[in-house]
Amino acid sequence: MENNNSEVLLRIEDLCQYFGSTKAVNHVSFDVKKGEVFGLVGESGCGKTTTGRSIIKLYNITSGNIFFKGIRIGAGLMSYRLAIRNARAEYKEKMAAPDADKAALKKELNAFIAEQKKQIKLAKYDQKHCDHAYQQRQMAAVREKYEKLMAEAGESERIALNKEFKNELRIARKTRLVTKIQMIFQDPSASLDPRLTVREIISEGLIIQGEKDKEAINKKVDEMLELVGLVREHAGRYQHEFSGGQRQRIGIARAVIMQPEVIIADEPVSALDVSIQAQVINLLNDLRHELGLTILFIAHDLSVVKYFSDRIGVMYYGEMVELATSEELFLNPLHPYTRSLLSAIPLPDPEYEKTRQRIIYNPLAEHDYTVDKPIMREIKPGHFVKCNEAEYQKYLEILK
Ligand SMILES: Nc1ncnc2c1ncn2[C@@H]1O[C@H](COP(=O)(O)OP(=O)(O)OP(=O)(O)O)[C@@H](O)[C@H]1O
Ligand SMILES: [Mg+2]
Repeated sequence: MENNNSEVLLRIEDLCQYFGSTKAVNHVSFDVKKGEVFGLVGESGCGKTTTGRSIIKLYNITSGNIFFKGIRIGAGLMSYRLAIRNARAEYKEKMAAPDADKAALKKELNAFIAEQKKQIKLAKYDQKHCDHAYQQRQMAAVREKYEKLMAEAGESERIALNKEFKNELRIARKTRLVTKIQMIFQDPSASLDPRLTVREIISEGLIIQGEKDKEAINKKVDEMLELVGLVREHAGRYQHEFSGGQRQRIGIARAVIMQPEVIIADEPVSALDVSIQAQVINLLNDLRHELGLTILFIAHDLSVVKYFSDRIGVMYYGEMVELATSEELFLNPLHPYTRSLLSAIPLPDPEYEKTRQRIIYNPLAEHDYTVDKPIMREIKPGHFVKCNEAEYQKYLEILK
């Protein structure tokens, strides 16, 4: 809505995440720009959580790439392996032709396979070593900062500065790039350890990261509690002593203390009372502006994300079917599944409610994809719909 910055912070490229025969996420692509709220919407089981978990590297993704701050943090291998298999099959077929130049074909095939194998090696390397590149970048920044400070400092300040420098450098050396992406979960009571105090829960990530200064940790926890609308007296209590809304605030504090650049909020309000939902959304919205956060907001209905999201992606059965700005999606929904989601939203308008009809999406009745296959197409700038050529023409006509 107020996002003029178009720097891509997170790029999801042709992501596939399969669990055996379940294609939880299937060839999904989207970018999240710095500072925006990107809403990911779709019914239960369509692959929203799996997309989020793939981004924070909880899985070795099946296929595709995930880039964060320009660094490839996730890379799947399936597409390369498939390419090799297909090339071998194609080669066999070509060899069968009577006039086949066997030597040339063989050479071509080998070169192709070698290239795919190189890509597989690169993918494995990037997936494993993405933190290293980031750590080097962070350490260089710390060194630069303290070189300057030291040069300006007097004799008496140097010892203290040096101690600070060593501490920050140690943390930079251990910083993992993925900690800059934090996730908030649907059910706060299940995601917060009941045996830990709130202070222990919120500070856990910092301690894992190598922070040892107890005083600094406590100060940060107090700051975080205040930031999310709790008070420092809460720090010594356990999660069961809190309401659902308060627990979600603790979950948010635990994420924000890591100074993330991206927050993946996975249905953070769907377990809460409607009256509390707005409070938690408002808190996320405030934090987004105060801390310059970028948010991937997952929800199963559109009403929750409507006012909060700059852009929205609609998922259906592991695939992205429509992607547009929030405004455009509500004004010109094109994919029948998006229309069906919209028809489920009640409006505070009695006249509209009298005539509101729930549209049920039935893919077999809606599309004939037997010959003309669907792909993601841009119907107008920034508005993408999964459709085949015939549907594309129809959608262009509708938007005229
Ligand atoms: N670890 C796993 N192992 C096997 N199958 C899984 C795993 N995680 C998810 N799935 C399957 O992948 C599909 C997508 O699940 P996912 O949790 O991503 O959906 P969702 O969109 O987040 O749904 P909900 O709105 O209910 O949270 C489902 O069919 C689910 O059963
Ligand atoms: Mg989910």
